[in-house]
Amino acid sequence: MSQINLLAASGLTLDEGVSLLYLLASVLFIVGLKQLSSPKGARQGNLTAALGMLIAVVASLTVIHPSGGKIIAMLVAVIIGTLVGAVSARRVKMTAMPQMVAAFNGVGGGAAALVSVGEFTRLVSGSNHGIVLAISVVFSVVIGSLSFAGSAIAFAKLQELMTGIPITYKGQQLVNGIILLGILVLAVDIVGFTSSIPVLVVLLIISLLLGVAFVLPIGGADMPVVISLLNAFTGLAVAASGFALGSTVLIVGGTLVGTSGTFLTMMMSDAMGRSLSNVLFAAVGKVTESSSGGDGATSQDQSVRSGTAEDIGVLLTYSQKVIIVPGYGLAVAQAQHVVRELADLLEQKGVEVSYAIHPVAGRMPGHMNVLLAEADVKYDQLKEMDEINDEFKLADVALIVGANDVVNPAAKTDPGSPIYGMPILNAEDAKNIVFMKRSMRPGFAGIDNQLMFDPKTIMFFGDAKESLTKLVAAVKVS
Ligand code: TAP
Repeated sequence: MSQINLLAASGLTLDEGVSLLYLLASVLFIVGLKQLSSPKGARQGNLTAALGMLIAVVASLTVIHPSGGKIIAMLVAVIIGTLVGAVSARRVKMTAMPQMVAAFNGVGGGAAALVSVGEFTRLVSGSNHGIVLAISVVFSVVIGSLSFAGSAIAFAKLQELMTGIPITYKGQQLVNGIILLGILVLAVDIVGFTSSIPVLVVLLIISLLLGVAFVLPIGGADMPVVISLLNAFTGLAVAASGFALGSTVLIVGGTLVGTSGTFLTMMMSDAMGRSLSNVLFAAVGKVTESSSGGDGATSQDQSVRSGTAEDIGVLLTYSQKVIIVPGYGLAVAQAQHVVRELADLLEQKGVEVSYAIHPVAGRMPGHMNVLLAEADVKYDQLKEMDEINDEFKLADVALIVGANDVVNPAAKTDPGSPIYGMPILNAEDAKNIVFMKRSMRPGFAGIDNQLMFDPKTIMFFGDAKESLTKLVAAVKVS
């Protein structure tokens, strides 16, 4: 009621007031997205976009008549959603972030599909509806359901509730083609002829099936790319349901998610040196640990040099320039605070320290940036791959902490390697290379890394957090 009094005082009608609030929310989404494009503004970007969402929710509640029962149901939904979101965001481990994004993205797509079914049911029973509405509803139902089911499979693969190995079978493309054809036939039937609610429900179920069929043949390791793509789908489904509901904020918000998700998907594929169609249809992930490195030599044929914390402590202390290469193992070990402690200590001793950030280091976009930001690493120490690659040849030490594929020279030298063509960090150019990991096991791509056998390389085996703690102690006494 108080909002309505406020509107009366401002001379605006309720509709005009709500439209203005939606406009304000849309502007905040855009500003938030812009701020998210750099690590410095990312925190603020989240807050800005969240404020936009709060305004959009308040505006939506305002249009519901306060005496109606729906406002109670919506408030309950808002409270449940807020609690689930806040608790899971606080509790989730950094390494499980992709699963959480998959789960949240999936329910977004599912919600868009259900809202569209509901809106269609309401309008069809009240007779006339235009073709635009029918197309929006069908689009939202198909894409939203696909995104929901696909995200559920992606979640299950990442959470290891099912195998991460691509599930393929003979005639798979044909089966997928038949499902797709079925969807097209039903969509044309609804839009052009019957407007039938039962047919719309069947369409929803078949679209769920397509979501499952689409993600099953993709390897667990490619899930972050798939999640980003499904995220873009969810955005488009939401925008389509915005058309069905006549809601500008849903159209703007959904389109922003759709576009940014598409860009992110393309950038991740590029950073892995693969095309999107290779990620989606090549069933990568069947590679086994038997794959060899660049020159065909297997790890069994070669020996490595390993060092102690004391040796490496001295090497680091007497260096002028050290480049730290963080990778997935840093996240697993939760070693971000201790790596920063080591870097600070070295800087106090006059060593220039920077971090080389590969775009797909870790398991999700921006993984290393988020992790190191958590430890308050200065943003100007974080260098993107293109910016730092030429600096490796000037570095005394490349300190590789839990990274592997992102420094694997096979990406440049071995055309038969599954990562051939992926741009990598030039750690091999540094005068000394310190490789910190627990074993000789391969990384995500499942292939040997010849850099471990390079005469310039010292292996320092152990959990990254424990090893870095030892290095801190060693540097202190060096
Ligand atoms: P990886 O190549 O996966 O290597 C990580 C290394 O960390 C492993 O070799 C592992 O060796 C080590 N490790 C694991 N736990 C550790 C711990 N507690 N302490 C110390 N070391 C530990 O990681 P990367 O170099 O960051 O490359 C990322 C890979 O993921 C790329 O292949 C990329 O294409 C792929 N990928 C990334 C994304 C995004 S968006 N980031 C998306 C899809 C795929 P040990 O087991 O011997 O310790």
